[in-house]
Amino acid sequence: MTQRSAVRGRLLTFTADPAEAGAAASHRYWGDGIVVLEAGSIVAVGDAASILPSLPEGTPIDHYPDQLVMPGLIDTHIHYPQTQVIGSYGEQLLEWLQKYTFVEEQKFADPAHAGRVAGFFVDELFRNGTTTAVVYCTVRPESAEAFFAESHKRNARMIAGKVMMDRGAPERLLDTAQHGYDETKALVERWHGRGRQHYAITPRFALTSTEAQLEASGALLREHPDCYLQTHLAENHDEIATARRLYPQASSYTDIYDRYGLLGPRSLFGHCIHLDEAELERLSVTRSIAAFCPTSNLFIGSGLFDLATMRDPRRPVRVSLATDVGGGTSYSMLRTAAEAYKVLQLRRQNLPALDAFYLMTLGNARALSLEDRIGALAPGHDADLVVLDARATPSMAHRMETVAGDLAEELFVLMTLGDDRSVRATYVAGVKAHAA
Ligand code: GUN
Ligand code: ZN
Repeated sequence: MTQRSAVRGRLLTFTADPAEAGAAASHRYWGDGIVVLEAGSIVAVGDAASILPSLPEGTPIDHYPDQLVMPGLIDTHIHYPQTQVIGSYGEQLLEWLQKYTFVEEQKFADPAHAGRVAGFFVDELFRNGTTTAVVYCTVRPESAEAFFAESHKRNARMIAGKVMMDRGAPERLLDTAQHGYDETKALVERWHGRGRQHYAITPRFALTSTEAQLEASGALLREHPDCYLQTHLAENHDEIATARRLYPQASSYTDIYDRYGLLGPRSLFGHCIHLDEAELERLSVTRSIAAFCPTSNLFIGSGLFDLATMRDPRRPVRVSLATDVGGGTSYSMLRTAAEAYKVLQLRRQNLPALDAFYLMTLGNARALSLEDRIGALAPGHDADLVVLDARATPSMAHRMETVAGDLAEELFVLMTLGDDRSVRATYVAGVKAHAA
């Protein structure tokens, strides 16, 4: 019989989007709750007083009386080969790619380097309370192999893909439409559905793929409809102008991807900052997802994501939240939420703390169509948890002195002042994978 264990603390889990259901109906909270874990899954959630008596004698219990126990955080767009690109000075997107990113990504031809970075990267996610991420690898299939091997070894639910790029980058980073297709196919067969791994077909963006490669990407998505598709869209004005020049027959940047059948409910588009109404309409109709990457959009100077326009009830676009390291400057979804708040402030919009924590958990799980597995504390869900401490630093503890039991205010302190220092513990498939 597999060993049961439990995590006790202040439990918080979302059941609905606060922007739709209202704050009160969006979540459940237990001031003294218990999550019972067995064989990598959650088997019970509820009041400590009612669950404790039913636990077998000697069940190990990790008790966090003052901390918040939540589902593990989810990052919907991040580049693992950019752990040494993060914090690179002074350029906007296209120059940044050429000067820093494409230089660094060439190092992943060496499987030893790829393996070392994959290990660092997964550690860093867990240290920040992130238990699922949607990950770009490099063009080299070995880089995807290294990432999946690491994630599988750690028993983490991850979505990743080898980048496909057959133009617009240094020779050593290019595949061809046929090679990209064949290598992707082999990786899908090897990794998609193995343990907790999922595959994302990953044409990097229109600037680095020929028509033949986008065609091949569409074919892959049709042949593997339960895989994801990830790419970049409308991040930067020079990028958009170049995309339009390369694809003069398309009516918009979004239409480029649309023509090859790349829009859909499992398609994630990073950035989506500069889109017109017709493009938003197509994203909405196809139920595609726009990934909001605030630290990256600020750092690379790309622009301010328009959440209210995305949420227009006449044609709502599904939105997720993401770090986009290494254009993004933090692995922390808390820091990411803080920057999302500031971006929206500059647009005279808001992001209440409950909405932000919904996005980091159930909202992002829904964006990935994984809400029956992750993103909530519920029986049958994967035992991926984060334990967050709103008093982790002197400044936070001092600020918390004025928060008298108001959960939304505590969450706002966590997202505004918190980072990896607020992550007391991270559990992955029921195992403590990080403890502060
Ligand atoms: N567009 C194409 N590739 C990239 C990348 O690596 N980072 C960002 N931020 N945008 C991109
Ligand atoms: Zn990106």
